[in-house]
Amino acid sequence: MTKVITYGTFDLFHEGHYRLLQRAKELGDFLIVGVTTEGYDQTRGKLNVIDSLMTRVENVRKTGFADEIVIEESPGQKFRDIKKFNIDIFTVGSDWTGHFDYLNDYCKVVYLERTKDISSTMLRTQKKHIQRIGIIGTGRIAERFIPEVNLVSGISTQGVYNLNTESSIRFAEKWNINSYTEIEDFFDAVDAVYIATPHETHYQYIKMSLEHGKHVLCEKPMVLEKKQAEELFRYAKEHNLVLFEGIKTAYSPGFSKLMGIACSGMIGSIRNVEACFTKLENPASRELTDLKFGGSFTELGSYTVLPIIKIFGTEFEDIRFDSIKDENGLDIFTKAHFKYPNGMGTATCGLGVKSEGHLIISGTKGYIKVDSPWWKTTYFEVHYENPDDVEKYSDRFLGDGLRYEINDFLSMINGNTESEFKLTQKDSITLTEIMEKFMLENR
Ligand code: CTP
Repeated sequence: MTKVITYGTFDLFHEGHYRLLQRAKELGDFLIVGVTTEGYDQTRGKLNVIDSLMTRVENVRKTGFADEIVIEESPGQKFRDIKKFNIDIFTVGSDWTGHFDYLNDYCKVVYLERTKDISSTMLRTQKKHIQRIGIIGTGRIAERFIPEVNLVSGISTQGVYNLNTESSIRFAEKWNINSYTEIEDFFDAVDAVYIATPHETHYQYIKMSLEHGKHVLCEKPMVLEKKQAEELFRYAKEHNLVLFEGIKTAYSPGFSKLMGIACSGMIGSIRNVEACFTKLENPASRELTDLKFGGSFTELGSYTVLPIIKIFGTEFEDIRFDSIKDENGLDIFTKAHFKYPNGMGTATCGLGVKSEGHLIISGTKGYIKVDSPWWKTTYFEVHYENPDDVEKYSDRFLGDGLRYEINDFLSMINGNTESEFKLTQKDSITLTEIMEKFMLENR
């Protein structure tokens, strides 16, 4: 008996998939089809798969060609499957020619000619209008945004606007996008806006963008007053627009895995969360000289407060801040202490004091230690009373990690609300409330 195996995502099942499976089956007597999970696809940089795993498996099954269907979850699985199932032939479409030659040592590798003029990517694009996103701001974070947008299908960077026209032109030339001198022209050309300007300008730009009917992805902290956050979310909802705060950690696969494990009961009931994020900034930087909006907490607090409110919720009993201040009065190191009925949390931020960037989640049965930089979650360990009892988990955080939030922002524009739980509007409003309280007490 000749056993054949093939793999694919099989999103929006199409004729190319059907013909590939048909020919794969004809290569032997028994065909195994590996359907790739969304999680694994994401690690390969393939974002925005539309059909659920169940639908994709069902579509493969319906062709009648697969004698067995397996799920492909990780790199290295192809080799293991070939051994495990005693495979004679490995086959995929000719778009992969050469890529799997290394498997020739274990079985025969056959590249089948790919069906022309059809692909899932093409169907995804046809199904949905490509969202043209415009960037307001030309700073460091805006620079990181463009290569990340390019990795998400269904969205493209249209252009940039900055009050400072010269800087806008320079930025546009560098990234080969349009620059707009008039904000009205900018709004006319885009469907969605990414706001990457200094914190204090966010409110006005979000408001303007929403009033022009644009979806908004705004850098954290979204705004600095609770009533502004409430007003903007209300307006967005009334006008069917997506307003989304960009805290990259919240959307990264590793952080989602961490939250799932932390809240699964594995370490019992959680009683304490300690999150620390410090980076030494140049004393002349905006972050350490802007007397109204600078300082460590406004800069980094969104990250360190995130795990605390994701775990304990937004209804804390008390919050208290301790800061060490520079001569100019700006905090170079801040600790925010949270008190909940059954737990506590500390969010530590530093721009002029360096520390280990740790996240420790303590429970009644054990604790989770997330390696620095935990805000780009890639590795964590679950520890128990017995020091030898350690479980290790890892996930990827690719590039600058903005691709994950862009992907979820786009999904929400396309009407998919599945990712809303990662950072809810209530979470964003609470984060703003905390920022506002800090600023009232410290400015
Ligand atoms: N395939 C094919 N002909 C096509 C499209 C896909 O033979 N027109 C093959 C691929 O080479 C692969 C299998 O079908 O062996 C599953 O491919 P998958 O990556 O799921 O499909 P694509 O349409 O290529 O998806 P995407 O556009 O997301 O890359």
